[in-house]
Amino acid sequence: MIQFMKMTLNINGADRMFVCDPKTDTLATVLRRLGLTGLKVGCGTGVCGACSVIVDGKVVRSCTRKITSVKEYSRIITIEGIGAPMYLHPLQTAMMERGAVQCGFCSPAFIVSAYQLLLDDPDPSREDVRDWFQKHRNICRCTGYKQIVDAVMDAAKVLRGECTVEDIKVPMPQDRNYYGKALVRPAALAKVTGLADFGDDIELKMPDGTLHVVMVQPKVAHHAKILRINTEEAEKSEGVYKIITHKDVKGSNRLNFAPFMPRSLTTEKTHILLAEDKIFNYGDIVALVAADTKANAREAASKVTIEYEQLPEMLSYLEAALPDAARVHDDHPNVWFMQPTLKGCENIRELIEAAPIVVEGSFYSSREPHMPVEGDTVQAYFDEDGMLTVHCKSMAIYANIGDIAEATGVPAEKVRVVQNPTGGSFGWGIASATYAIAAIACVALGGRPIAFSMAYEEFMAFSGKRCPSYSNTRLAAGADGRIIAAEWDTGLDHGAYNELGDDISTRIARFMYFPYNVPNCLGLARVASSNHSYGTAYRGYGSPQAYTASEAMMDMLAEKAGVSPYEIRWRNVARKGDLNINGYEFTSYPGEQMMEMIKPIYDKAVEDAKAANAAFGESGEKHRRGVGLVWGGYNVADGTTDQCTVAIELGEDGRFYKYDTWQDQGQGGDIGSLMVTLEALRTTFGDKRAIDKDDVVLIQNDSKYCPDHGPTASSRSHFMNGISSKACAEKLFCAMLKPDGTLRTCEEMEEENIPTKYENQFLNEEFGNLTELDPNTGVGNPTPDYNFALFLSEVDVDLQTGKTTVLSMKSVADVGVVGNAAAVEGQAFGGMSHTIGFALSENYEDVRKHNNPLGAGIPGPKDIPDDLEIIFAENPRWQNPFGSSGASEAFQSSGHMAVINAIYDACGVRVYELPATAEKVKAGIDILSGGGEIEPPQKYFLGSDLYEEMENIRSDPKHWG
Ligand code: FES
Ligand code: FES
Repeated sequence: MIQFMKMTLNINGADRMFVCDPKTDTLATVLRRLGLTGLKVGCGTGVCGACSVIVDGKVVRSCTRKITSVKEYSRIITIEGIGAPMYLHPLQTAMMERGAVQCGFCSPAFIVSAYQLLLDDPDPSREDVRDWFQKHRNICRCTGYKQIVDAVMDAAKVLRGECTVEDIKVPMPQDRNYYGKALVRPAALAKVTGLADFGDDIELKMPDGTLHVVMVQPKVAHHAKILRINTEEAEKSEGVYKIITHKDVKGSNRLNFAPFMPRSLTTEKTHILLAEDKIFNYGDIVALVAADTKANAREAASKVTIEYEQLPEMLSYLEAALPDAARVHDDHPNVWFMQPTLKGCENIRELIEAAPIVVEGSFYSSREPHMPVEGDTVQAYFDEDGMLTVHCKSMAIYANIGDIAEATGVPAEKVRVVQNPTGGSFGWGIASATYAIAAIACVALGGRPIAFSMAYEEFMAFSGKRCPSYSNTRLAAGADGRIIAAEWDTGLDHGAYNELGDDISTRIARFMYFPYNVPNCLGLARVASSNHSYGTAYRGYGSPQAYTASEAMMDMLAEKAGVSPYEIRWRNVARKGDLNINGYEFTSYPGEQMMEMIKPIYDKAVEDAKAANAAFGESGEKHRRGVGLVWGGYNVADGTTDQCTVAIELGEDGRFYKYDTWQDQGQGGDIGSLMVTLEALRTTFGDKRAIDKDDVVLIQNDSKYCPDHGPTASSRSHFMNGISSKACAEKLFCAMLKPDGTLRTCEEMEEENIPTKYENQFLNEEFGNLTELDPNTGVGNPTPDYNFALFLSEVDVDLQTGKTTVLSMKSVADVGVVGNAAAVEGQAFGGMSHTIGFALSENYEDVRKHNNPLGAGIPGPKDIPDDLEIIFAENPRWQNPFGSSGASEAFQSSGHMAVINAIYDACGVRVYELPATAEKVKAGIDILSGGGEIEPPQKYFLGSDLYEEMENIRSDPKHWG
């Protein structure tokens, strides 16, 4: 017999009686069932703080608090009790105004947590705030925490009566020239009040008749032949509607991604959604269970077992590339793609060996997990038009329609994709596969509406990661340290599935030694399949792997040349006339300007480190300070065929309705679209009509209504949408303009049969100068623009433990004209926080240990310095009507190497293989203090000799190895 329990809690000031299940209910499940869905569940295991509520004056993580451990009549405060849209608490206002809300999934918890802090201590210092969030495990993956602390400090001032709420708001320009100003994101209000429904909230609120679908993820092997899937016991389980296996799938059961570059050895779509005859990696799904409740679905899923035969597991590039390695996929060798880069002198080897200075090294970058605080939850149903509709965290709505059609066999014109409010993605959402799996379930269930969700651990095992890299590289320079030639050989471990593996290797071919003047180079980027997590997009996409090698080498070159890390970069940064490694111009040359901007900051940091080390020497404190400086940057737009389509309509109310699929992953697709639309209208309509910020209404991210803006990727959105919005505004303006120079109203246009809605597609080919990379030489110009970033980091290394503390990270960046100051700063600080995690702690190598954000090394508030700073070198871009470039991925390109170089500067330990854990640094310190030398990793064997491979390619460009 099931026994329930009646309870009463005082929730947000009112006594509320409810019935709960004493065996399974947590405080979180009860509160969410009561409709208080401002409380979010991220990890579900007590490590992310997203579920924070206040219980009798204490901040509590409600996901792990059993309801039976909560005293009856306890006083509970949730976000809903703190403020509502029409009665905002100063904390909520401050969070919005300071740009502290990105994806917003963590925001209610931070506000709840800070609310209690300010009750306990109305006048905290910034460090007190950071300590408080650290103590209560409030994790934010988007912001880098700084803007959240800013917001708490602002709200505290209001609460102490030192200023008014109006005083902490961003002043709006009287002339309505909003571009560049920190306008508040339209979606922020719902997020700070807990009213934004993310995937799990939508699931909870789905109508009756919705089936709950969970995955069967055996997690028994990385590579295995499936002999049998045993579903009989599960089928008898309570509430089960159907167990779905690959046999129930009517489409190809694959994502639509196939390798597409000429040198790819395969064109197979390898991403199988429900395992067929094999398991290719630990997180593969063998079946789905659909039941009346999620609990019943989970219970049944636990009864599905598989019989399998273990196959050889290749868990890294190095294993997969061995000559006798078993194939991961039968149809092609494990190393399945190579992209050369050749520039200048034909005989690079001789050139290098004859150079006055040569440095050499091998470097590894790790399998970095994205770790959004929200995992992944998807809904699928047939809508009122008979369209198969999928609600998900899409960051490429139209590409995902293609995936769903491919997987299910439902024609693409009958598929609709809607993006849910998204609790972060950072790139993983480009091919999350869950949208196609949910669609498969919906179709296999005869069109029954479904909600598909997974536990965070399942999400970690299932989702793609940043692919690890192994690089061998040499750098040759003159006696003055000026680069003569570079050579590299990089192997990318792309894991079980091939999607984008060929594409990402081109980033090695473009960003190795960026943005230096490298007159001669020979490089090879190789991609291999393995049985680990599949490689997928992640902010910076391919460039962090390149910088892991090249920015360490620049410091090694500086040391050998006897100059400072600053000086070596000053001497080598590209100047006007220098060509990039692909033989084309860099599109702009802000190198000298940016280095001059960072010089005083660098000099001060070096002096401060010296002074601190002298003080440590005197006091005997076993700490050392160091400074690291690196160059970074990234391409803008997604290659030669990129396009962006938007529409603007004049509404009957006189407002402008903007339609696009600028998917908001937390970066601000809403505010980005608003900024470019306001600017497009302002600069087009001039004095014919003043456009207020409230005159634009955004209709976004539903393929039923919105044209294809393209993916939220490649730092392309602001740049491309800006161009397209400007042209679109001009079309509408021309249609509204009367012969007498005044403007038609919507009503007048309709009377004259003039359309009120205009669409514009901008194609990258309109630039007229873009070319794909040559598959055999890497010569080409696939991007209309680049952004640039310098990063400087100060670290403290504890010599006794090896623990590195990042004291500051500062960046001088050129992203063109800044569109929205708070949003771009948010991207910068967020990117920096990921780079610090990448440098020191983040990893998804051990699938059992790294299965939650804490285990996988997500940085908490005290792991990220409060001293984050971004300084803009705003060089307007001719390619964009507003002078803007793209502003995201540069911020996560190379900052990790500023930390790694700073560790070396501090204590002489060069970490060649990420992450620089305390154990690794301590081991290096011990070797050095014992008078030894740290052995660099042996040169990696990547499948063949670099020069033999290049000779094969040169003598037969179609040679595939
Ligand atoms: S701590 Fe409760 S959801 Fe993460
Ligand atoms: S805004 Fe904090 S997790 Fe996204």
